[in-house]
Formats: sequence, C-alpha cells, structure tokens
Amino acid sequence: IASAREAALTAPTLEALRDLLEKFDGCALKQTATRLVFADGNPQARIMLVGEAPGRDEDIEGLPFVGRSGKLLDRMIGAIGLDRSKVYIANVIPWRPPGNRTPTPQETQICLPFIRRQIELVDPDVLVTLGNPSTQALLGTTEGIMRVRGKWRDYDTGKRTIRAIATFHPAYLLRSPSYKRLSWQDLRAIATVLA
Ligand code: URA
Repeated sequence: IASAREAALTAPTLEALRDLLEKFDGCALKQTATRLVFADGNPQARIMLVGEAPGRDEDIEGLPFVGRSGKLLDRMIGAIGLDRSKVYIANVIPWRPPGNRTPTPQETQICLPFIRRQIELVDPDVLVTLGNPSTQALLGTTEGIMRVRGKWRDYDTGKRTIRAIATFHPAYLLRSPSYKRLSWQDLRAIATVLA
C-alpha cells in the first residue's frame, strides 16, 4: 500500500496515472479482470461522480457505468441538467471483482491512493459518491447511505477542500425504486450548488 501511494502521488497527469495503473501489479483484482476501467467523461468537469467497481459490461467495454445502472446514472446526471460530456465518472476500484463481489477492505485500501490522486488531478468543484462503499472509502464515514446521503461534507485532498455529497448508487435504486424520490432531492441540491 505504501508503494501504491507513492506511485500514485508521482503521477503528474491523468494520463500518467492511467499508465501507472496499467503497470501496477499490487492489486489481485487485475489478474481476473479483462481490462482497466479508468474513467469516462470530461476531465475538465466541475463535477466528479465515483462509484464502487466495474461490473460485467464495464469490464468488457473499459468504461465505467455502461450497463443497466449506467443508464440510470445517465438519467441522474440529466436530472442535474448535465450529460456525460459535462461530468467526470470513475470508480474507487478500477478492476472488476470476480462475479461482481464486493471488493474486500484490503483491495479498497490498495486502490484508494489512485482514486484520491485522480480526484486531486480532476479537481472538481463537487464530488459525488455513489452508494456505501464509495462513500465510506472517500468520505471516511461508517454510517449507512440512508443517514449520510444528501448532506454536504468536505472532502480533503490534502491540499484543498472539495464540497462532497453522497447519494444512492443507481444499482441500489434499480432494486429499490421507491428511493428515487430521495435521490432526486440530492440531485436538485447538487444542481443548485453548480448553478
Ligand atoms: N457499478 C459501479 O459502481 N461502477 C460501475 O462502473 C458500474 C456499476
């Protein structure tokens, strides 16, 4: 983990960070994944959304959120008045866990320095964490999504503070559509801050 952190911190650009990840052998998930899923969208975006880990479709295409939950994420982005060309999307874990299992705490810790550097390099005005794993990894809380969602927090890069907010993961909303109403409240709050 120490060497992963050092490697991540030496990446001066997003391209360099992506190259580092392509060469990084410290995470076992890479061995079972088809390819790296680094990011989609606009590196100049004012808003960055971070999910958990790629699924089957993402692993095939090499882009985050292209499957069923990605379609709903596109609608969530639309609810903020934006589209994929105006946001930046990544995951805490850039390789698909076998059978879409939840990443282990160790895998998350190994990958964390890379996503933290990615956030620092994109330097968005607003960071949105999608669901529990991303929220707990990045916003340092152990509370569940129901309690943390929709409240503004500070994300500290070490150099700068970025406004951050958690909301439901689209895959969760597909299973529990009754929470969409609450999620749309969160998206309205984000739209207001970006306006
Ligand atoms: N779920 C995620 O958290 N990320 C993806 O890229 C796809 C599904």
